[in-house]
Amino acid sequence: MELSNRKIVLGVTGGIAAYKSCELVRRLREQGAHVQAVMTHSARNFLAPASLQALTGMPVFDDLWDTRMSDGMAHIALSRDADAILVAPASANFLAKIANGLCDDLLSTLVLARRSAQCKLLLAPAMNVEMWEQPATQRNIERLRADGALILGPAHGDQACGEVGAGRMIEPDEILADLVAAFQSKCLRGRRVLITAGPTFEPLDPVRGITNRSSGKMGYALARAAREAGADVTLVSGPTMLAAPHGVRRVEVDSAAQMLERVLAAVETADVFIAVAAVADWRAASISPLKLKKRASAEPPTLQLANNPDILATVAALPLPPLCVGFAAESERLIEHARSKLSSKGVAMMVANSIPDALGSDEAELVIVDATTARTLPRASKLEQGRRIVAAIADRLATRVDPGEPGT
Ligand code: CTP
Repeated sequence: MELSNRKIVLGVTGGIAAYKSCELVRRLREQGAHVQAVMTHSARNFLAPASLQALTGMPVFDDLWDTRMSDGMAHIALSRDADAILVAPASANFLAKIANGLCDDLLSTLVLARRSAQCKLLLAPAMNVEMWEQPATQRNIERLRADGALILGPAHGDQACGEVGAGRMIEPDEILADLVAAFQSKCLRGRRVLITAGPTFEPLDPVRGITNRSSGKMGYALARAAREAGADVTLVSGPTMLAAPHGVRRVEVDSAAQMLERVLAAVETADVFIAVAAVADWRAASISPLKLKKRASAEPPTLQLANNPDILATVAALPLPPLCVGFAAESERLIEHARSKLSSKGVAMMVANSIPDALGSDEAELVIVDATTARTLPRASKLEQGRRIVAAIADRLATRVDPGEPGT
């Protein structure tokens, strides 16, 4: 659970997106958070307090003068032990108020009374596109950002009013991902990270091809972990069933040749390249433009294969490569093979994993291997392993002496 024992004040202001707050409460509680809902008076036009009360298991507050608090100071009591105040949806009016330090209701007073060092402020705006684009709203958003608030979204798309544009509240799962990220170290802030993930698919004809059993889970988890750590993340992915992690730019490809092309197009600005993809080592020497036909008495066709480019080795051999990290999937002599790939591909770090252990699973035991050390990362979820690898990469970046060294 990503939010075990975190105390979250969920502020709900007046907007049609308030109906999504119920789903958000469920997501937060599934991750172990204690949720205290606080509504503005306008929010009650969209959502009954009883719904939030039932879902949070706590009384809902909406009045600065609530007499249920023994000392009558709900704005202090509710903010003191909170780890975060998350306002979703945050209306244009509410953003304008708190950008200017106004506090004329319980929720805005809670925001002003919180101890900023301990209690994060996350705001998920929701409003009509014209309201969002007004200079006044944009000024308020800039001011709130400068004051340390995290602005989640908004998304672009169809709006309840029938118009189309920016201003939709982002989805509860995305808000949850941003909240979880807010509690992670920002050790890759300002860095650009390029990651490959998933299998590749090498076509034989219009319907058949060569692929492998990589699920893409490790690469996607790393992309999420790098984004949580503050990086700008591009994920070049072969075919998988996975949704792109929130806030990650995904480029979808099929073959190794396409993957190499998209990697080379993005690598120039990358600080880090992490090759997690299970790239097919071979492709068909020629691809039949027509479906290969089966003939009753004929022998099966013989496949002629050609070598695929090694994407990781190609990037590591660039004149000014980013810090390069590879994954070594091995079925025996894990560290020995990983170290030999480290030197043959000219990279700084290899992450070794046993197959079939990690294949398709949500967990893995990994070993981070560099030229002199081998550090075991005990079995954990792939997201947790991704965070550990991100921390190791950040350490390595901090001590990187000569970025001109091949891939290291
Ligand atoms: N890799 C790559 N391009 C390839 C093959 C591998 O970028 N054509 C990268 C993988 O993404 C991984 C690392 O190289 O980071 C090692 O991949 P792996 O499949 O373990 O090793 P191979 O080099 O393919 O060698 P082998 O299959 O013989 O173990």
